[in-house]
Amino acid sequence: MNYSEYKKAEAIPEAASMIETFRAIGYSLETAIADIIDNSISASAKNIYINRIWRGGQSVITIKDDGEGMNSNEIIQAMRPGAQNPLSDRSETDLGRFGLGLKTASFSQCRKLSVLSKRKDESSAFWSWDLDYVTESDKWELLQWIPKEFTDELDSLQSGTLVIWSDLDRVLPLQTAETDDSAKRKFSDALDKVKNHIAMTFHRFIEDKSIRIFWGEHEITAWNPFCPNESKTQEQPTESINGSVKMKGYVLPHKNNFSSELAYKKAEGMNGYPAQQGFYVYRGKRLLLAGDWLGLFRKEEHYKLVRIQIDLPNKLDTEWQIDIKKSKAYPPAVCREQLESYAKSVRTIGSEVYRHRGKILKQRAGQNFQPLWEEKAKDGKWFFVINRKNTIIENLKELAKTQPEQAISNLLHIVEENLPTKAIYIKIAENDEKEKTHFSDEYSDIVKSTLSLMFESQIKQGKTPEQAKAYLKTIEPFNNYEDLIEQLYNE
Ligand SMILES: Nc1ncnc2c1ncn2[C@@H]1O[C@H](COP(=O)(O)OP(=O)(O)OP(=O)(O)O)[C@@H](O)[C@H]1O
Ligand SMILES: [Mg+2]
Repeated sequence: MNYSEYKKAEAIPEAASMIETFRAIGYSLETAIADIIDNSISASAKNIYINRIWRGGQSVITIKDDGEGMNSNEIIQAMRPGAQNPLSDRSETDLGRFGLGLKTASFSQCRKLSVLSKRKDESSAFWSWDLDYVTESDKWELLQWIPKEFTDELDSLQSGTLVIWSDLDRVLPLQTAETDDSAKRKFSDALDKVKNHIAMTFHRFIEDKSIRIFWGEHEITAWNPFCPNESKTQEQPTESINGSVKMKGYVLPHKNNFSSELAYKKAEGMNGYPAQQGFYVYRGKRLLLAGDWLGLFRKEEHYKLVRIQIDLPNKLDTEWQIDIKKSKAYPPAVCREQLESYAKSVRTIGSEVYRHRGKILKQRAGQNFQPLWEEKAKDGKWFFVINRKNTIIENLKELAKTQPEQAISNLLHIVEENLPTKAIYIKIAENDEKEKTHFSDEYSDIVKSTLSLMFESQIKQGKTPEQAKAYLKTIEPFNNYEDLIEQLYNE
């Protein structure tokens, strides 16, 4: 297209409405704070300090780092929405992409974003976005203002940055009284979630000691979703897709095999085992997505111990459709097949561990364990049978000689109470087509002889053959064998 041929008209976004739109990107408090921490890490910070100051509706959250910092002009540049082109290459350790995170993450939570920053050997500078001022002036204008109490905050550091969020209207109503205990509790609960989210999102940085993150006075410890220190965790071999994406599966131990109940509880994570299963997608060392099957599978109880690490380099951001919040990713079509087949193999191991109880008992009892149900396969189809060699069956046969009714009643109870529902459920979920659906000759003979006995008894009771036939069709499982019933009629 030759642009010079055309008349032009400027269509500049209106500040007041556009900046409100930035608020609606869909961050949660935890993803918003993680986005600010990303910036600190990209600025080579070694220590990050998160503080929350409870003052009711005037509460404040601050995130401070000892990274490279910015001078006054650089802060202004950093405060500009879309200061960097998302298509430009970034260094491998840069966690940013869109040139938006600082603004969108902050506005999603608060009306005032202040940045105080300091480069080495320079004095500190500060600028603020104030949504009330932008609304009033309808101008993209920063104010050279920060809350007074923070002006000296970086004096003790060589370089660094302090991000201050005040007027946290998306966290709590601005008119909340400081004495409102229930609001205070909610604030503190919301922040506890943030702390857990940080422990998980940045666990690799914390573990390799490249970064320390402080939560008030306390240092945050890492939460590693794969429990590598549990001796019974099963690590699967790493596989790579096109040489750049890496997958590594982990099957966590069965509850009984964790080193302690506390460790099992801790490994559960924020949302519980069933929800935490799935892929864990990392961009660099930073976790983007925790426990998600990426649309390839559903979450199911028996895969709850399966967690698969995926490592992406940031040069694949576009292909994987990384979003502004750094909390979503969509595998491109070329990766899906390999992801799926790798995950399937890990999931199979996971479901075996999940239903491990039987096996454990077997091991404990040595060779003498007698299962009641046995899983069998024939011609690639699976089915479950009662183990005729189980001593219970022998005993019931003995009992049947003298008390047949009691023996049958006992047998039925034992079968009823011990249906292998869990194992069948897993089988169906794994490959529902392969359930065995037709019956052995032996079973077919049993059905036939039972049918003819019952048919004769109906006739003896004075029913016509039609009536007897109709009656038998109402009895399960004979309702499934109408053809056999028809044959009876013809004999
Ligand atoms: N804590 C910080 N220390 C030093 N520089 C920072 C800090 N926070 C932000 N910046 C600068 O501000 C710029 C804009 O940050 P912002 O988070 O808005 O976008 P980004 O990190 O480049 O990309 P993304 O939108 O993906 O987060 C950064 O590229 C960085 O140069
Ligand atoms: Mg950023």
